[in-house]
Amino acid sequence: MAQLSAPGPVLVVAEPGDTQDVILSAVTAQELDAEVVTDLEHLGDHWRRAATVLVADQMAERVAAWALPHREAVFVVGPAPELLSAWSAPLSARVIPLPEGAVWLGAVLGEGDSRCRAPVVAVIGGSGGVGASTLAAALAQLSAVDGRAAALVDADLLGGGIDLLLGAEGVEGWRWPRLNGAEGQLSDLRAYLPVVDGVTVVSMARGGGPELAREPLAAIVNSLANWHSLVVLDPGRAMLSAAREAVRLSNRQLLVVSAGVRGVAAARQTISAYGLEQPELVVRRARGALSSSLVAEALGLPVLAELPTEPSLVGAAERGEPPARGSRRGYRRAVARLLEQVLSGVAQ
Ligand SMILES: Nc1ncnc2c1ncn2[C@@H]1O[C@H](COP(=O)(O)OP(=O)(O)O)[C@@H](O)[C@H]1O
Ligand SMILES: [Mg+2]
Repeated sequence: MAQLSAPGPVLVVAEPGDTQDVILSAVTAQELDAEVVTDLEHLGDHWRRAATVLVADQMAERVAAWALPHREAVFVVGPAPELLSAWSAPLSARVIPLPEGAVWLGAVLGEGDSRCRAPVVAVIGGSGGVGASTLAAALAQLSAVDGRAAALVDADLLGGGIDLLLGAEGVEGWRWPRLNGAEGQLSDLRAYLPVVDGVTVVSMARGGGPELAREPLAAIVNSLANWHSLVVLDPGRAMLSAAREAVRLSNRQLLVVSAGVRGVAAARQTISAYGLEQPELVVRRARGALSSSLVAEALGLPVLAELPTEPSLVGAAERGEPPARGSRRGYRRAVARLLEQVLSGVAQ
């Protein structure tokens, strides 16, 4: 979960050289104080206190070996792509490739925390067939249309494959069984994964297979969050271990609730079965249904958005036409508004 660090110095773990020079000039430009540490024996204290931690790519392996506690706002910085991708996940760090990332380095230091990491949003159906997968796909799609790169991750073993929803079943790229070997050493995955309408898609292969393991899911989601502006997860309702891991990895959970008595009852069961702490409601409206404020009251949770019932989505899904293209304006507008809220801040 996002945690704001107390204001503190910038910890720089880099030996003298080009990478250290670039980092220190960025720190100076932001009028911040740097603590440069090369003797890792003394890292622990600085690690906890610093507002931001910048680790040179050459030092990343040694830092990871210390098994320091997990913290936010860690960045691996340097010119070696293979080191950046290898040590990003073990350190829960974002990567800043040099020289092209030097400007971004300034922005990161200005933020002083992890706010620039892409939000990871799980979209969960409060009941079956309520439109959770469709919404997940539409959010990712509209984000990409706006030029904000998005990834859509299918973690629903029994969902039939989210690539079908996007008409992406024929698009080349890796799918889950192949990705199951992933363990943290992930570079920018976009080169290997199917991309549809600008959305990077991680989908299930059909025909069954081994259950999706939790570790690769975590590594993949971490990597995607480093390289996109938004990551949307579709855990489904089967609640197998990968789906639970997907929910755990998310920093925001949207629960799509059908605005009826049974929809609310099922949503309550879903919240408890998944152990959701602060889901935000997306109320799927229908004629004669309960009002959103009644749904909010019944569940004791905030409503983030309302979604209209949009009959054209059913045919669009059958044709494999992505939902943001195959729907009318009312649905698109509702999703666009929701997207703005999702991108405007990560839930605390
Ligand atoms: N807002 C909506 N209005 C009408 N039909 C919808 C809407 N959202 C999804 N659908 C349709 O409902 C069915 C189930 O959608 P899906 O997204 O797979 O639900 P879930 O993931 O919650 O099980 C699909 O046929 C889909 O096209
Ligand atoms: Mg679904």
